[in-house]
Amino acid sequence: MNNLQILDHPLIQNKLTRLRDKATNNHNFRLMLAELTALMVYEITRDYPLREVEVETPLERTTGKVLATPVVLVPILRAGTGMLTGVLDLIPTAKVGHIGIYRDPHTLQPVEYYTKLPPELPRARVILVDPMLATGGSAITAVNIVKREKANHIQFLCLVAAPEGVKALSTAHPDVPIYTAALDRQLNDHGYILPGLGDAGDRIFGT
Ligand code: PRP
Ligand code: URA
Repeated sequence: MNNLQILDHPLIQNKLTRLRDKATNNHNFRLMLAELTALMVYEITRDYPLREVEVETPLERTTGKVLATPVVLVPILRAGTGMLTGVLDLIPTAKVGHIGIYRDPHTLQPVEYYTKLPPELPRARVILVDPMLATGGSAITAVNIVKREKANHIQFLCLVAAPEGVKALSTAHPDVPIYTAALDRQLNDHGYILPGLGDAGDRIFGT
């Protein structure tokens, strides 16, 4: 599991624990998910390339640095959209693509139903976001889709991962780094992560 990185910053772990708590209501779940995602994105963008630009301060001209490549965020619908505002607060110039995938509750196989991606994909830093990496089926399908559209630099960001999903995603796409706040114990018979945080989409949207 070489391409797995667990983001263990104390502020991230603190918020994750509050998200796991079944007493956290939909409103607070959404707020904390956004905050937590911003903290994680801060960590995973450390090596983004910069380019120099001239800037006029109130006192003189100087050289500053700005991001050298476009950033494209791709939430996996639905639950991934709960992670969007946190990233956009930090990188307001980011473009946003959408990939609609749901997991068939009986077969646990991913079902693709919508894709809309911005044209910058081939030269962009692409961050796929989804709170849960369970069997890995949805994530593998999403990476297949962005690769089909010629994405080159792909990162997968989730909150909670199961060992089964990490193994499947890193086997299918060894070039894609996986970032998570927690690597949990296992999946249950219905494909839910244990201990996990329940159904992320339901907890975000109150369904
Ligand atoms: C959840 C989650 C992931 C997927 C993970 O979505 O947000 O997309 O399950 O499971 P996997 O790794 O086994 O594929 P869900 O299918 O519940 O759809 P939703 O976001 O619309 O609720
Ligand atoms: N999807 C979720 O929302 N939660 C899980 O535990 C697994 C898949």
